[in-house]
Amino acid sequence: MNNSLLLEVKNLQVYFPIYGGVIQKKIAEVKAVDGVSFSLHRGETLGIVGESGCGKTTVGRAIINVLRHVSPDVHLGGEVLFHDKNGEIHNLLHLNTKSMIPFRSKIQMIFQDPYSSLNSRLSVKQIVSEPLEIHNSGMSAAEINDKVLWLLEKVGLQPEYSSRFPHEFSGGQRQRIGIARALATNPELIICDEPVSALDVSVQAQVINLMEDLRDEFGISYLFIAHDLSVVHHISKRIGVMYLGNMVEVGEADDVYFNPKHPYSKALLSSVPNPDPKQKGKKRIVLSGDIPNPLNKPSGCSFRTRCPIAQESCSISIPELTAKENQLVACPLV
Ligand SMILES: Nc1ncnc2c1ncn2[C@@H]1O[C@H](COP(=O)(O)OP(=O)(O)OP(=O)(O)O)[C@@H](O)[C@H]1O
Ligand code: SF4
Ligand SMILES: [Mg+2]
Repeated sequence: MNNSLLLEVKNLQVYFPIYGGVIQKKIAEVKAVDGVSFSLHRGETLGIVGESGCGKTTVGRAIINVLRHVSPDVHLGGEVLFHDKNGEIHNLLHLNTKSMIPFRSKIQMIFQDPYSSLNSRLSVKQIVSEPLEIHNSGMSAAEINDKVLWLLEKVGLQPEYSSRFPHEFSGGQRQRIGIARALATNPELIICDEPVSALDVSVQAQVINLMEDLRDEFGISYLFIAHDLSVVHHISKRIGVMYLGNMVEVGEADDVYFNPKHPYSKALLSSVPNPDPKQKGKKRIVLSGDIPNPLNKPSGCSFRTRCPIAQESCSISIPELTAKENQLVACPLV
């Protein structure tokens, strides 16, 4: 694996304004992502885990720089640094739509529900060839056709299916179409947002295997967002754990999965059935209380209202990621 840096996310902040009243003025803000940092190397998979609403999808959308289309007055802070193959570094976070064009082909995103993310009125061939046409690849119609058939074969779909429509396929096959579409522009990074969560378990394994094969063949990096910790552990080289807009732990997949250090990661991972005999007998940690409302986050460490080892000092400042043995952990009391 090529060990060079591809992406650095530094102190990323995404605050969505909330409007209210008759004149729709800003009354509050959701700190969906509040100072997240991580890096990703070429050919590497970084898994991101955390409960619903912790900001995983927002991190992905900040990287592909589409948040302003969703929420025009969103506050974006920090940096999303893309390292290109020539060694140049580009901060994508504040690029306008036109300046983003060269990076759109290098960074693709695939989604949980391949049905709603594929245009149902287009044939598979049209769906997969669309990015090649949009990115003005300079290819002739015949070359595009050949590439589409090659891509379908790469993702394990029969080329004869290219004139069919998304509804004629199973969920797993539809996700393969989504992957072929993402691969069309030879991306360097694919952000995978819960790509197998909607699929049956047996189909999940096939799609994961395919994604691993494609990563190894083409040297693609994945940012792999998912709820299922065993899937994330299987595919990822490193794992980051998020809680309420913050990254609370990052490290090698085995270290975070088998030996989590942050109290939140410990609780999250204790809920996974563990086949390792050394780990058997470990008690499941049940967290008390609900996740706080992101509109009204606790001061200091946002986990403190549920943390079994919280102390008064935890309300003062947001803990930063600090090296603890093999991992980076955002808790001074670990
Ligand atoms: N456009 C928006 N406007 C206002 N708030 C938003 C917007 N998009 C997301 N949020 C809020 O930001 C927070 C993070 O949302 P996000 O979708 O990133 O979470 P997630 O970790 O992907 O959750 P899930 O696992 O359910 O997909 C949530 O509180 C969500 O309600
Ligand atoms: S900083 Fe305090 S509240 Fe936060 S995880 Fe550590 S001990 Fe728990
Ligand atoms: Mg999400």
